[in-house]
Amino acid sequence: MKGNVQIRSQNVNLYYGPAKVLKDITFDIFDHTVTALIGPSGCGKSSWLRCLNRMNDYIAGARVEGEILIDEHDIYARDTDVIALRRNVGMVFQKPNPFPMSIYDNVAYGPRLHGVRSREQLDGIVERSLRGAALWTEVKDKLTSSGIGLSGGQQQRLCIARAIATEPKILLMDEPTSALDPMATARIEELVRDLKKNFTVVIVTHNMQQAARVSDFTAFFLLGELVEYEVTTKIFTAPDDKRTEDYITGRFG
Ligand SMILES: Nc1ncnc2c1ncn2[C@@H]1O[C@H](COP(=O)(O)OP(=O)(O)OP(=O)(O)O)[C@@H](O)[C@H]1O
Ligand SMILES: [Mg+2]
Repeated sequence: MKGNVQIRSQNVNLYYGPAKVLKDITFDIFDHTVTALIGPSGCGKSSWLRCLNRMNDYIAGARVEGEILIDEHDIYARDTDVIALRRNVGMVFQKPNPFPMSIYDNVAYGPRLHGVRSREQLDGIVERSLRGAALWTEVKDKLTSSGIGLSGGQQQRLCIARAIATEPKILLMDEPTSALDPMATARIEELVRDLKKNFTVVIVTHNMQQAARVSDFTAFFLLGELVEYEVTTKIFTAPDDKRTEDYITGRFG
């Protein structure tokens, strides 16, 4: 199952001011896989995820040590084009956050920002992205309606469409279903499994069943450390570390 390494995290430490919240995080993520990040609240999952597209740049006092390589390029190197990085590493958040504009414009937003002007080209991107996010058939007749008028689950799929419209290689999802009902969650999970054909997906979840259902690899974080990273079936059936076992069996967290 292991393919090419797409993301290398090498001895990554992250500080918020004096507080060290990530400690020596070292592991590789392979392309066209789904990797689940699990661990108790505050263990650093979102912080590590934000390192991957340099979202932590926006947090005053945040400082990253070590290296993160994407396709072997050090994304913290001085010559990194951060705009291009973020185009390559899309992100979907916990709460669906469509822009207050039409469904069409939500999806066309990124491509327009990156200079795509032709209507024909944009039409193609919008349709392809909405199909990729399993939303096309539901919205194809109301592309000019507001994105905010959709249901929560549809809004989240719209956000996924928006994220994939710029053709990223990597898709980061931070608890993408925690605000959704079971039906909408099931649709997103099905979609996540499908997305790995075209993308490398890293998903944070507090739901162990979800991690087991959607991911190929699972990384267990605890107190800013990476305790265990393994094939998901191994993590959930025969973890090496006692702390992993305690967490997945619900003994803490
Ligand atoms: N902007 C920030 N400034 C200062 N400290 C922060 C900031 N964001 C997070 N932290 C701290 O960093 C640590 C890791 O937080 P992070 O949000 O990465 O955890 P998490 O694993 O995503 O938790 P959760 O499951 O609750 O989302 C916590 O101690 C948190 O309080
Ligand atoms: Mg978080």
